[in-house]
Amino acid sequence: MIKRIAVFVSGSGSNLQSLIDATLSGEIENGSIDLVVGSKPDLYAFERAKNHHIHHVVKRVKDFSTTEEYNADVLGLLKDRKIDLIVLAGYLAILTPEITKAYAGRILNIHPALIPSFCGKGYYGMHVHEAVYTSGVKLTGATVHFVDGGIDTGAILIQESCPVSVNDTPETIQKKVLEIEHRILPRAVDAVIKGEVIFDGERAFIKK
Ligand code: GRF
Repeated sequence: MIKRIAVFVSGSGSNLQSLIDATLSGEIENGSIDLVVGSKPDLYAFERAKNHHIHHVVKRVKDFSTTEEYNADVLGLLKDRKIDLIVLAGYLAILTPEITKAYAGRILNIHPALIPSFCGKGYYGMHVHEAVYTSGVKLTGATVHFVDGGIDTGAILIQESCPVSVNDTPETIQKKVLEIEHRILPRAVDAVIKGEVIFDGERAFIKK
């Protein structure tokens, strides 16, 4: 049966595009993107959703009196649209335990660094790549992990690294990392849909 996927975005949506492309090419075999939730209007991610006739909505925390109300509203939307799997692809708001519990093992996040480095509060977007650049680390990369209610915590599913060299800038690091993201996020989604994930305590692996 086809699994219905919701993708949460706050930016250009290049990861959303990689997921759309993967559902169309069959790389994600039994999934379809049925909902795009954005944290503000005028996101380029919405143009991508429109181009593919995907239902898309703006959900702003500031339009609700409490984050609980916001999350209850989002949860209602997910239920109405019979969403099976949530992907946070550059989404900059926090989901409360109500949602993370209802979708335990069915929410993935992509982070543009090798967790547990360069993650947590304040590490988002270019801030991550600037911190990587300044630190002098020789490797960075991207991580797909399950979401458990913390910031960038939850079982790591896939990581892939790339070198950082003397000629790199935060911008070139971002470009290399994005290429990795676009490869590993569809792979992770496909594995979850196919039930190929093995949990071992706090750890998660893809069956090979
Ligand atoms: C990506 O780097 C993702 O890892 C991070 O936010 C960025 C979103 O990029 N969480 P895009 O909107 O998918 O192009």
